[in-house]
Amino acid sequence: MKIGFLGGGNMATALIGGMIERGFAAADIRVVELDPGSRERLEARFGVTTTATPDARVFAADVVVLAVKPQQMKAALASFAGQVHDALVISIAAGLRLADIGRWLGKDGAPCQRLVRCMPNMPALIGAGITGMYAVPTVDDAGREAAAKILAAVGATVWVEEEAQLDAVTGISGSGPAYVFHFIEALEAAGVAQGFDAVTARRLAIETVLGSARLAAASDDTPATLREKVTSKGGTTAAALARLAEAGWHDALLDAVNAASVRGRELGEQFGKD
Ligand SMILES: NC(=O)c1ccc[n+]([C@@H]2O[C@H](COP(=O)([O-])OP(=O)(O)OC[C@H]3O[C@@H](n4cnc5c(N)ncnc54)[C@H](OP(=O)(O)O)[C@@H]3O)[C@@H](O)[C@H]2O)c1
Repeated sequence: MKIGFLGGGNMATALIGGMIERGFAAADIRVVELDPGSRERLEARFGVTTTATPDARVFAADVVVLAVKPQQMKAALASFAGQVHDALVISIAAGLRLADIGRWLGKDGAPCQRLVRCMPNMPALIGAGITGMYAVPTVDDAGREAAAKILAAVGATVWVEEEAQLDAVTGISGSGPAYVFHFIEALEAAGVAQGFDAVTARRLAIETVLGSARLAAASDDTPATLREKVTSKGGTTAAALARLAEAGWHDALLDAVNAASVRGRELGEQFGKD
């Protein structure tokens, strides 16, 4: 399977690294990347070939992964118009809708049809991401499998039924790492307020999140049951959770996820304009 990447930045680097670890051949990967330093790094690190502008070999790839920033996409696809015929096109750009990408890739009013849109998240950079995926109905099982195999190189994958659900995925797992980092920051600040130095407080906070997430992933219990198990009546955890409830922590998170989803939709509309 020949794979072309448009954009060779952070996310493309993570994907390519994961793919090569899982047995994809470097010789089958060609990356279009503007920045000469990034091109050099990709070639030296992975042995893939790179090019500054798209060429016939990229257009003829079996799969083309679109990995430039959403605001760069329209300009970056200008030279692709009408050039990609049978390739499966996978966009990882946040917010951008497939109808817009298909239109930019197509020619003379005939949009590109084999499109998959994905929303990965930042832990993909260490192979621990989760990616929401949506394929237009014209993508067959083989196309879905190929897309899932590529995104599985950086973590877990989940298919959604409707493209609009990817805005919700953006709000939950796409932006989610920032909520978790914010939580870690706050727990660290609480540790400092209790008299610990910042290094110790950060270690206590990070290991708590890491261990709890690993336990939740490994356990047959739901997170709610695990929470109940650690909360004795009248105990320390109960005192803390009562304060979080009073502060409206749960509802604030629901609002936050909704705000991110709405913003994702708005950005998709903004960057998808002709
Ligand atoms: N990073 C994340 O956590 C994350 C999570 C979910 C989704 N995503 C999505 O993944 C995509 C890539 O994000 P990223 O963080 O990897 O961005 P990035 O590091 O900025 O990578 C994009 C790369 O594409 C290059 N580029 C721009 N226009 C180009 C063109 N016309 N031809 C060839 N190369 C071009 C950029 O070069 P210049 O720097 O010179 O412009 C840059 O090196 C984005 O659409 C983003 O929404 C990222």
